[in-house]
Amino acid sequence: MCGIFGYVNFLVDKSRGEIVDNLIEGLSRLEYRGYDSAGIAVDGDKKGDTFIVKKVGKVNALKQEIIDQKLERSTLFDCHVGIAHTRWATHGQPMTVNCHPHRSDVNNEFVVVHNGIITNYRALKTLLESKGMRFESETDSECIAKLFKHIYDTNLKAGLEVDLNELTKQVLFELEGSYGLLVKSTRYPGEVCATRKGSPLLVGVKTNRKLKVDFVDVEFPEHDAPSSNNTSGLADGSSNLGLMPVAQGDNLRTSQSRAFLADDGMPMPVEFFLSSDPASVIQHTKKVLFLEDDDIAHIYDGELHIHRAKKSSAGEATTRSIQTLEMELNEIMKGPYKHFMQKEIFEQPDSTFNTMRGRIDFKDSKINLGGIKGWLPTIRRCRRIIMIACGTSYHSCLATRSIFEELTEIPVSVELASDFLDRKSPVFRDDTCVFVSQSGETADSILALQYCLERGALTVGIVNSVGSSISRQTHCGVHINAGPEIGVASTKAYTSQYIALVMFALSLSNDSISRSPRHKEIIDGLQKIPEQIKTVLQLEDKIKQLCDDHLNSQKSLLLLGRGYQFATALEGALKIKEISYMHSEGVLAGELKHGVLALVDKDLPIIAFATKDSLFPKTMSAIEQVIARDGRPIIICNEGEKVIGMEEKTMAILEVPLTVDCLQGLLNVIPLQLMSYWLAVNRGIDVDFPRNLAKSVTVE
Ligand code: UD1
Ligand code: M6R
Repeated sequence: MCGIFGYVNFLVDKSRGEIVDNLIEGLSRLEYRGYDSAGIAVDGDKKGDTFIVKKVGKVNALKQEIIDQKLERSTLFDCHVGIAHTRWATHGQPMTVNCHPHRSDVNNEFVVVHNGIITNYRALKTLLESKGMRFESETDSECIAKLFKHIYDTNLKAGLEVDLNELTKQVLFELEGSYGLLVKSTRYPGEVCATRKGSPLLVGVKTNRKLKVDFVDVEFPEHDAPSSNNTSGLADGSSNLGLMPVAQGDNLRTSQSRAFLADDGMPMPVEFFLSSDPASVIQHTKKVLFLEDDDIAHIYDGELHIHRAKKSSAGEATTRSIQTLEMELNEIMKGPYKHFMQKEIFEQPDSTFNTMRGRIDFKDSKINLGGIKGWLPTIRRCRRIIMIACGTSYHSCLATRSIFEELTEIPVSVELASDFLDRKSPVFRDDTCVFVSQSGETADSILALQYCLERGALTVGIVNSVGSSISRQTHCGVHINAGPEIGVASTKAYTSQYIALVMFALSLSNDSISRSPRHKEIIDGLQKIPEQIKTVLQLEDKIKQLCDDHLNSQKSLLLLGRGYQFATALEGALKIKEISYMHSEGVLAGELKHGVLALVDKDLPIIAFATKDSLFPKTMSAIEQVIARDGRPIIICNEGEKVIGMEEKTMAILEVPLTVDCLQGLLNVIPLQLMSYWLAVNRGIDVDFPRNLAKSVTVE
């Protein structure tokens, strides 16, 4: 998915080469998000020049293109703004003209990088074209750059001098849709504005001196919209396309950002890193400030000012805190593993432990989730719980629904975010809506969250990325603390979400004495999970062999499960599809005889989950039905359970440790993660970047 990176140096000498290298490095840290092209913009040789270099393909291809274009590297800048972007095509094919940065005109007067979608871009484009502007790309983003120039020129003609923040505000007034946006301009050398709406953006700060305060004041406008006469000529009187320049009042650079002044009141040497993702900032600085929707961060002369695009409403925060990221750089690197996905699969003994760390008292069988503790009485009184998510996160909801219902006796429904929105499902004030997301930035889930917030429901997030949109917009929640997940295929986030949801269910029913034996059983089970995962990971060689002997050349694969294991079957099938491109389907074992059985023959590989729980006899009868049609299933069962007399009738038996019924899916899913990984590697697929997919799906 698209990624933004920007680098600003002030009173810190950097050569153009160093600036370009910084931008390229920042982009390479965003690569894991999935993208199809990349580009950068830096200052040119003459005053008023901007170089833009773009390339379809990987960041390395862009790096080569910069070398091929013989970009001069030695010029020194003591104040400079560079912006960069990785694009994931939505409007227009992956082609050089469609890559960002986009420009206002052939002189590159205004250049922008943009994440998100401008929904009114057609109307804007038509109007700007009618004013003589020539568009080069098929993107929605280009209209933003053109709009900057048009409004700037309109102000100029009216004799109005606007600063970059005010200009940005006027541009935003015309935009509909979502954006994370950086703009740089030859009209405002050494300045940049960064703004967001529905798309993440943060500012990292690096300085040798101590910041005076760990927050930045928010500066509010006096009016919501530009207010003077319309001189732009674009206005149709009825739409948002007023493009009205506004006279500069006393809000022109009136305040100072206190954090960035030295003791003598003078600006200090400072570097700023602007990014859509902390992963590209962490190697430079841990001091970051997350922008809120409608914030405009204006950086110039070593100062960072946060303005609001809109007038303040009651209760709005008047500062943005500068936080310290707890993520380490080595947490986002591959270590000894060949792929991030493999690393993340093998991290699960640690990541599952980290999800529980400090939250479970194993001695007294007590759960303490700091993020939702205060909300538990309200949640216990709710009419129903609606779990909403996409993809793997949806499967973690399915996997835990039954234990939620058992422990809380509150009706629970599980919804795919897109379908939930399509149906405009009724939501009420006494509902609790739980949003599960690794990234916390999935557009469908965010839209569903906004839908539920508008209807007054209580919203709870189960999220991996701290500071993400879902984490910040929910009333309360639990960070799963699995660490950054970089492989597109979600693995460790699944097991950690699963555990976080089980802990949530346990906390909701904490008061009930009659349930305490069941609580104890589950909490004891959770304690053993990290070690048991280590045991399952030892199956890797056997699974690799199984892929080589029987599965690599197959076209299709079925997974059978019921009860708790239906979610495991769906999740296993999703992993295989997305990484190895092999068709696979998770089937509810009870549904086999209602249609799917027609597919079964001696050739179709079938994986059946036959671990011990109350439904074991029924699962065995489904396996018998498969064998009776000459099928030779791969059976996942508990250690020592011989699945009597089945050895010679099966393709393979994979044994996993036994745990409590509601936790068994945590162990059963691991062989499928390993299988999908090896099927993909054997097929020569770039496991961390499967075709057509992105890590963070920030478009609807
Ligand atoms: C928090 C701290 C942790 C510290 C611990 C000890 C953070 C991110 N976590 O962990 O570093 O060691 O206290 O006191 O600072 N939230 C949402 N929506 C979500 C996820 C979380 O609103 O989707 C909110 C929670 O309600 C809570 C806050 O974010 O207010 C932090 O949540 P979480 O990290 O789960 O809390 P703790 O485990 O208590
Ligand atoms: O970041 P999220 O958990 O909200 O993402 C949801 C899905 O896009 C994600 O789980 C996707 O299905 C994974 N690539 C599956 O491995």
